[in-house]
Amino acid sequence: MSTTYHRLDDGDQTQVWMSVEAGMPQLLYWGDSLPADCDMSTLGRALQAAVPHGGLDVAESVSWLPEPGRGFTDEPGLALRRGAHHLYTRFSLESAQATDQGWTFHLRDPGAALSLELHIELHAGSGVLSAHCRLTNDGCDALGVDALASLALPLPTRLRERLSLTGRWAAEFQAAREPVGRAAWVQESRVGRTSHHAYPGLVLMEAGTHATQGEAWSLQLAWSGNHRLIVQALRGGGLQMQAAELLLPGEVTLEPGECLKSPTVHLCRSPAGLRALSLRWHRFLRERVVPKPRGPRLVQLNSWEAAYFDHDCLRMQALAHRAAGLGVERFVLDDGWFAGRRDDRAGLGDWEPCPERYPQGLAPLGARCQALGLQFGLWVEPEGVSRDSALYRDHPDWILSVPGLEQPLGRHQYVLNLGLGDARDYLWRKLSELLRSAPIQFLKWDMNRDMTHAAGPGGASAVRQHVLGLYRLMDDLRQAFPSLEIETCASGGARADLGILQRTSRIWVSDCNDPLERQRMHRAALTFLPAELMGVHIGAARSHTTGRYADIGLRTLASLFGHPGIEADPITFSEAEVRHLREAISFYKAERTWLAEAEVAAIDHEDPALLATSAVAADGRRALVTVVAADRAAHAVPGPLRVPGLVAAGHYRVSPHPLWAPDPRHGKCAAGPFLPGGVVTLAGQTLHRAGVALPILHPGTGILLVLDRVR
Ligand code: DGJ
Repeated sequence: MSTTYHRLDDGDQTQVWMSVEAGMPQLLYWGDSLPADCDMSTLGRALQAAVPHGGLDVAESVSWLPEPGRGFTDEPGLALRRGAHHLYTRFSLESAQATDQGWTFHLRDPGAALSLELHIELHAGSGVLSAHCRLTNDGCDALGVDALASLALPLPTRLRERLSLTGRWAAEFQAAREPVGRAAWVQESRVGRTSHHAYPGLVLMEAGTHATQGEAWSLQLAWSGNHRLIVQALRGGGLQMQAAELLLPGEVTLEPGECLKSPTVHLCRSPAGLRALSLRWHRFLRERVVPKPRGPRLVQLNSWEAAYFDHDCLRMQALAHRAAGLGVERFVLDDGWFAGRRDDRAGLGDWEPCPERYPQGLAPLGARCQALGLQFGLWVEPEGVSRDSALYRDHPDWILSVPGLEQPLGRHQYVLNLGLGDARDYLWRKLSELLRSAPIQFLKWDMNRDMTHAAGPGGASAVRQHVLGLYRLMDDLRQAFPSLEIETCASGGARADLGILQRTSRIWVSDCNDPLERQRMHRAALTFLPAELMGVHIGAARSHTTGRYADIGLRTLASLFGHPGIEADPITFSEAEVRHLREAISFYKAERTWLAEAEVAAIDHEDPALLATSAVAADGRRALVTVVAADRAAHAVPGPLRVPGLVAAGHYRVSPHPLWAPDPRHGKCAAGPFLPGGVVTLAGQTLHRAGVALPILHPGTGILLVLDRVR
């Protein structure tokens, strides 16, 4: 049986795929670069695994989509049916084509009347790999697709720890780091959106991996609906990981000639710790995924926590005026502006400005914002349909529901089925009328309910079609309104993934604006997402979601590396807070250009109470480091902070920024020996290896260190 090898190289890494004629391609090697003259078939022979005793007489290997038809007895990569017959596929390679940056494999299973294309692409620079597959029904009758992974990968068993992100409303992006166990780990979203609790990304790493050491492999599935990630220890030894769209029963049936394209899974690997891994992801998202805003990221004020549903045109004009006075550049009118919307029980779906509160529509508010030098943005929830709405009364058949069955409401609402052309056309008309009616350049696109009973009019599950319809609607709007920026929001951060991020350039990370909570969320989210996408707003001193008080210094500090905004009425701020805010906003504006391209990553400190994050300019000339005490420190005096990522041979002048300097009241040492003379100059390498001492910080306070390269 002939075996072919397909090699991909980028900078410091090599990936080798191996394909035998009778079977699917599978990953043979992924790691640090192999010599250019490495003989692939010798490598193949060298790495050939033994067939274990006590099982089948074939080596159970993890191919792109492991097939039970070839004797794979762990989690398969696909599950297909014709009528009641489970198909035991046995795909064979027909051809492999080199593409610009990767490979396309064509396979067929004539017995099952199926063909399959597997695509892999390596992105030079970031070194991220993207993979997807496309299955076609070549038969004469319908094919039921119960499962089709985007990709399965064999993992080295030395990757003993797993990092994933879980959470809930107002507590998204919680890092969960656990050992890889003997039982399979399965993470699913079945709620029709990416979800608060199951970010579709994963890191597998050597035990003890930290920011700058340890091998780590990672994936992210670019899909905003139901999904499934699996890490499984195989019966015969070894590990596999799989990423797939989760298909509900009967969700996909391929008629003769039809095909199914899986979502794309992106993969990345670092031989040198989590920092390098995240920076690869950030580069990839910046270069290949997220649409670039036309100008700098504007400081915004969002009206939600300032007014909730209690507003009208005059009140919002006054709020915009106060926002402009602080240096805000974009005013976003949140929920409550449309007909029937006095609370969250009614109005979703109608999308006409409220005739009492906005009698002349949104144009006067838009014009006022423009006159104040502000961009105008608007909150919408296009998929939401209130039971009490004209849309629901006129088109009850347009919502996702199982005919004849009551479903629980979520926030008193249903979900409009965007898989239906009519429903999509309706939204297209409504949204484009709105966008033409006022100078709206930004949409906060919300989605506030988990799906259940997500079926279309015929009764078949319709999440997949809904997500594809959503993508299409967003794509059409972006094409028709090229300067429109969209923020993805779903009760906070429940729809953040690389699928929606191809269409949106900002994430509303959470409805929790407590800066301590946000620090934890952002540092975890940085594993997969670049900082500047993360909307982070300065709220009231007492957080609306945790009830905890935070000093204005901490609130502004926590927003510096994200996309900052305000989530409060400035009238409620004291004079001192206003002064501080103005200065903090102008500091952000002065730094934001390089920050948007900077290497931003969490820094490890021995004390888990001290959360440090650094932003190092792409050219290494400047860096900012925030240090926040989330809790009481473990020791009376904190150990030094070691700062990675600087130019090793460069010399940096390190000083605390006066706006976020240590508070001398926090212990007699704070104002004394901390950076004697207020400044110290050290080589980048020394700052990484030895670090700088930290002041004593009270819980809920923080500092900003400024590092400028002087030679
Ligand atoms: C949920 C969002 O996360 C909030 O920021 C706000 O926009 C509300 N929806 C409005 O209903």
